[in-house]
Amino acid sequence: MNKDLYILGIETSCDETAASIVKNGHEIVSNVVASQIQSQKRFGGVVPEIASRHHVEQITLVLEEALREAGLTPADLDAVAVTEGPGLVGALLIGINAAKAFAFANSLPIIGVHHIAGHVYANQLMQPMEFPLLALIVSGGHTELVVMKEHGHFELIGETRDDAAGEAYDKVARVLGLPYPGGPHIDRLALESDRAVEFPRAWLEPDSYDFSFSGLKSAVINYRHNLEQRGETIDPHHVAAGFQESVVEVLTAKTLKAARQYKVKQVIAAGGVAANKGLRSSLEATFEKEGIPFYVPPISLCTDNAAMIAAAGSSMFEAGVRGNMEMNGRPGMPLTSWNS
Ligand code: KG4
Ligand code: ZN
Repeated sequence: MNKDLYILGIETSCDETAASIVKNGHEIVSNVVASQIQSQKRFGGVVPEIASRHHVEQITLVLEEALREAGLTPADLDAVAVTEGPGLVGALLIGINAAKAFAFANSLPIIGVHHIAGHVYANQLMQPMEFPLLALIVSGGHTELVVMKEHGHFELIGETRDDAAGEAYDKVARVLGLPYPGGPHIDRLALESDRAVEFPRAWLEPDSYDFSFSGLKSAVINYRHNLEQRGETIDPHHVAAGFQESVVEVLTAKTLKAARQYKVKQVIAAGGVAANKGLRSSLEATFEKEGIPFYVPPISLCTDNAAMIAAAGSSMFEAGVRGNMEMNGRPGMPLTSWNS
């Protein structure tokens, strides 16, 4: 009889302290997220030292809660998967050291997971992946198009040349005087708006799957300055709608083009910006018309969580990947395949 596989996931790369237990790679048995957003809001962004301090305070509680919610003991687990990078090094180290201590105390193997592989594997918690698969990863630190031929195989075909999509959302939100994190606020204003300011689209070279958002951000700043010089007030709704239209149109068009070129069987979206309602409905409509299955996780699994780390960790565990006690936080960790 095959024993069930239970993986404990730990995520502390940015401003969420999270632990989760996932059964057989796709079933969430517990999922605990302690967010620091309320406290980071005061500073208009994530302050690394404060993030680390929060993680230290929360990690033990969150770990205990993940076990309690699952009704499991450490003896039931098969491995500990932890975000190894990329992220804030001080924040990563809290999760990694907790994972090492837990693994050592309970004689469990430890697996270092790439944060973006985690975001991609959030989809595995909803439905099985089918390959070849195209993933659009849009988060606070990443904007990437990745083709997967099989589990654990990642081919990067496009990425941002400057700001990440979420970073652009957060910066434009600040220009509009909206609280951190700005993405959900811009999303809401854009949906409420009856008009959109026309902003440029950064298509780059015709055959490129790369992205660029800094020009769009500058266009929003210039628009505001021009209005201010003329003594007019800015309408945040119209700016939010125009900004979101530009971002969504470019992300959708490049994802569609790549899906056709790579003849993929499934398209998925992942990362915090995949929570965006405008982006979700644009991608859904586009791929429904195209006849390619498109999936995006529920919003709670788009933003940072540990279930996605446990899901990716499960796939790595099954592929025989194991880390060791030398593991360190890797702020600039590249996304490499564990199956090639
Ligand atoms: O994946 P995530 O939780 O953390 C990183 O790994 O970066 O993504 C956070 C980002 C933030 O920039 C936030 O503004 C953005 O996701 N975000 C959104 C929405 N919800 C979160 N951006 C646009 N629309 C949203 N609804
Ligand atoms: Zn993330």
